[in-house]
Amino acid sequence: MAVDVIILAAGKGTRMLSDIPKPLHSLLGKPMIDYVVEAAAPVADHPPVLVVGHGSQEIQQVLGDKLRYVEQTDLLGTGHAVWQAESLIKGKSDLVLVVYGDMPLVRTETLKKLVEAQQAHNGPLSILTLVAEDPRGFGRIFRDEKGGIRAIVEEADATTEQLAIKELNAGMYCFQAEWLWKSLSEIPLSPKGEYYLTDLIGIAVKDGQTVASVQIGDPQELLGINTRVHLAEASQILRGRVNRSLMEAGVSLIDPASTYIEPGVKIGQDTVIQPNTYLEGKTVIGNNCLIGPGTRIVDSQVGNGCEIEFSVIEESRLEDGVDIGPFSHLRKGAHLAAGVHVGNFGEIKDSYLGEGTKMGHFSYLGNAQVGKNVNIGAGTITCNYDGKEKHQTVIKDNVFIGSDSMLVAPLEIGENSTTGAGSVVTKDVPPDSVVVGVPARVIRRKDRE
Ligand code: UD1
Ligand code: CA
Repeated sequence: MAVDVIILAAGKGTRMLSDIPKPLHSLLGKPMIDYVVEAAAPVADHPPVLVVGHGSQEIQQVLGDKLRYVEQTDLLGTGHAVWQAESLIKGKSDLVLVVYGDMPLVRTETLKKLVEAQQAHNGPLSILTLVAEDPRGFGRIFRDEKGGIRAIVEEADATTEQLAIKELNAGMYCFQAEWLWKSLSEIPLSPKGEYYLTDLIGIAVKDGQTVASVQIGDPQELLGINTRVHLAEASQILRGRVNRSLMEAGVSLIDPASTYIEPGVKIGQDTVIQPNTYLEGKTVIGNNCLIGPGTRIVDSQVGNGCEIEFSVIEESRLEDGVDIGPFSHLRKGAHLAAGVHVGNFGEIKDSYLGEGTKMGHFSYLGNAQVGKNVNIGAGTITCNYDGKEKHQTVIKDNVFIGSDSMLVAPLEIGENSTTGAGSVVTKDVPPDSVVVGVPARVIRRKDRE
């Protein structure tokens, strides 16, 4: 049976108090609507349909063409929102799954169970329910003496008796498509001037039909986001999920509570993550690494056996056995070959450092190509910017850069050469030479031994 998915996300999100459309509020580094899309997409046979209204341009720009979009210009309720998708998908599917876009913690397995329940059900729809002590403003599931579902009563319209009901409407439904399109027009206008999707339950029952339900075991999964407090709660739960699955895959987290790892990050076995560490974006870390404490790594690849302490690494690549920190900063385009050592207060941007090269103390390398086994002395600076353009510095294998050298690019320092402490190198240095002074001059040639 072909399944279409409709995700409702046109609401204003008034209680977020924000200029950012609610679906785009960030949850562990991604727009929160992305989580719902990822959970629902595997259940659907066609790209999900997102109902957008408030902030629709921005939302479409961010999410792109992995979704189909329909606009709800007047926000007349959840029933009216679903109706907007009719012309797009009517006749294309047997079942329609409707999911509210403000529930980012829902899992694919849960939505699958709901679809399966409807596949096995003769009536027109199945709904997801949860039992919780805190009703959070959710609609109440009203059942008859035999346990059959009679209606969903919205909190605003519930009697005192109904308010005490602990079984709640999660906001996920699977419909027989034909019945859905036929019945939407029967939804009455509520006293608040909205068409509630939830009224379809009562309509089915009045019609002599039954409503099936799947009760969800983990109420956390149905945490709806209406405020920034809810967003922080969801973030904490999601972090817990990410951390747990990493630990189950052989990664040690010394203090999960102070470890912030986004869901797209991959980490190898026997790597240890120390407290106060942030691993973000598309970061991939190998086996047997020691990361942190106090480290932030964004969109970077880290090989096996690396150690990174109190440092920030962005859009960089580290091969095996690299060690960094404390207090260094690798910026976009830093590529460190195996066994490179970067100690305190190093900054590296758009540069390659060859195997075994060492840069121990407060230095800056920008737009540099550095060979193997080079020693970058304390306080070395590549002067790569002349006020208009960036220029390249090439340092060949086995070079020894003396402390406090200024390397004024464009510049090439030949293999096996040495710069004296405090020299300002403005011209290319031939191989096997020693240069000193301001500006630096060759004072002697070196023997290869
Ligand atoms: C809704 C349900 C309630 C359920 C709760 C679970 C209805 C009438 N009530 O209440 O039974 O317990 O969700 O979270 O459905 N939306 C639109 N267009 C609209 C209105 C809403 O796209 O015109 C979208 C919103 O962006 C949101 C979702 O539908 O993603 C739910 O709307 P919301 O206003 O949050 O409904 P609740 O009051 O939470
Ligand atoms: Ca809601």
